[in-house]
Amino acid sequence: MCGIVGYVGKNKQALHVLIEGLKALEYRGYDSSGVAFLNNNKIQIIKEKGKIHNLEVKIDFSVTSNLGIGHTRWATHGEPSQINAHPHKVGKITLVHNGIIENYEELKLVLKESGYSFISETDTEVACALIDKLYNEKNDILKVMDKCRNLIRGSYAFAILVDDIDDKLFVMRKDSPLIIALGNDENYVASDVPAILKFTNRYILLNNNEMAVLTSDSVKVYKDSNTIIKKDIDTFEWDMEAAMKNGYEHYMLKEINEEPEVVYNTIYNLIKNGSEELSSIFPDFSKYKKIDIVACGSAYHAGLIGKTLIEKYGDIPVNVEVASEYRYKKLFYNNRTLVIIISQSGETADSLAALRIAKEHDVDTLAIVNVVGSSIAREAKYVLYTKAGVEIAVATTKAYSSQLAVLSLIALSMINNDDNFDNFVSDCQKLETQMTNLIKKHNVYRDIALEIYQKNDIFFLGRGIDYALAMEGSLKLKEISYLHSEAYPAGELKHGTISLIEKDTPVIAIATDETLNEKIISNIKEVKARGASVILLTTSKLNKVGDYYDYKIVVDDNNELLQSLLTIIPLQLLSYEVAKLKGCDIDKPRNLAKSVTVE
Ligand code: G6P
Repeated sequence: MCGIVGYVGKNKQALHVLIEGLKALEYRGYDSSGVAFLNNNKIQIIKEKGKIHNLEVKIDFSVTSNLGIGHTRWATHGEPSQINAHPHKVGKITLVHNGIIENYEELKLVLKESGYSFISETDTEVACALIDKLYNEKNDILKVMDKCRNLIRGSYAFAILVDDIDDKLFVMRKDSPLIIALGNDENYVASDVPAILKFTNRYILLNNNEMAVLTSDSVKVYKDSNTIIKKDIDTFEWDMEAAMKNGYEHYMLKEINEEPEVVYNTIYNLIKNGSEELSSIFPDFSKYKKIDIVACGSAYHAGLIGKTLIEKYGDIPVNVEVASEYRYKKLFYNNRTLVIIISQSGETADSLAALRIAKEHDVDTLAIVNVVGSSIAREAKYVLYTKAGVEIAVATTKAYSSQLAVLSLIALSMINNDDNFDNFVSDCQKLETQMTNLIKKHNVYRDIALEIYQKNDIFFLGRGIDYALAMEGSLKLKEISYLHSEAYPAGELKHGTISLIEKDTPVIAIATDETLNEKIISNIKEVKARGASVILLTTSKLNKVGDYYDYKIVVDDNNELLQSLLTIIPLQLLSYEVAKLKGCDIDKPRNLAKSVTVE
């Protein structure tokens, strides 16, 4: 996830502030970084791929500068590289950008016709050229920024330096956060609080569509180029740790709240150029007659959902296995087998070993990975990245959801039909709001958590895709609340495990699949008749009044390919609320590691 920091002031060396600020944003994850600063009336840019250390060693810190901007980049348009890293400079404009400019290709064509050429693959360089073009026409940067808001579609936070203005920093934002922090004879800009917390705790929050001009002793915020807005100055009361959590009590809660955005980013990254892009980025799935999905933990559960979708839409048999089993079993490969490895970290030892086994047999491999440049990403033949950003809580939430998003796209690509693609795109737009609204229903999850947190055993039931979700819901609960739970295919319970159901045993029944709804209702009635306290998780479409449940959570309906991204949210938040009531160490559960790099 990209980060921005900027400085204009009389007291400090800009380069020092920028590097310190960027280091404080490292936790967000990035693949390259860069700074632009004014020295001897000239803007200089230094940028490097990889860690901030790679940038730092190239900087001469004895150079004096009182104006500069810095950036950490998490690649969206174009690979991680020095050229694609920010800041970008076109003509008189130098800028850093967070967000995604959706119409950059259209803008690029127009700008090319006006004589601009581009050296990077980024949407940011296009925005930079657009601002330069308008600045050459108008020579008034505020008016240019104002106009840009009508021309650029998408999300952005920009920090801008202008060649012939040596004492001002310009910023604007829409849908990507930006704050202005205030010092004495110096001011800062940052995408995120930790970047400036070392220097000051007084700040102004820039709202959507606002622009600002910063000098060392003034900050002016504008609604449009003629209208100044009076802003309140706030004070951060958080320490660094709290600031990194962005006000949330736990990283897990913060990361669940990031799910709508990261799922959107993951999908958008793969479909931004239309359905044809899918076929060019994805392997040619029509080559394969059999797919093995191999993973561990939640990534394995994501694989189970992938199996249901791929088998249904792609008509290819899919075998899903936990990596620690897969690596020691007899494998039935042929030259039309594809092995898909799913891993957040890209470093899980068992998953990596499974990948290597497939490669030894000359079988094609596809990795779905979150961490760019990780071992699994490097070694697989094909890689699709999830765009979840850094996940700090040990129990995965947003990375798991991003994996579901990629698997949905794989299934979608197998249908190969433009109508389906267009529907999918509009359903994705709906999804972001639906996910956000579902996350907000805190009281519902809290109330149910209060009913179950003191129990000893909980059962999760589901059929089909809902069984895979039940497994993930159960794992989440075990991981962070230490409450014993079991996930069961609802139709199988009566063959043994139903003997464990007694009065008030909590049973969480997931029923989102219309084709199996009557079947699971019968199974729910079987446990209800034996005294279970049933928590039903269903969709608006299947929601009906009945006497077979005690509590009900209803999620909105969406495209079957995307439905699981909604259903999983109440399960994650329920686990979170139970763990909180039990006073557990939610972000660092006992005995668990985020990345398991041993067998
Ligand atoms: C650990 C984590 C799980 C994760 C699993 C696989 O067990 O605690 O949350 O699902 O590893 O990790 P990976 O990085 O390969 O997705």
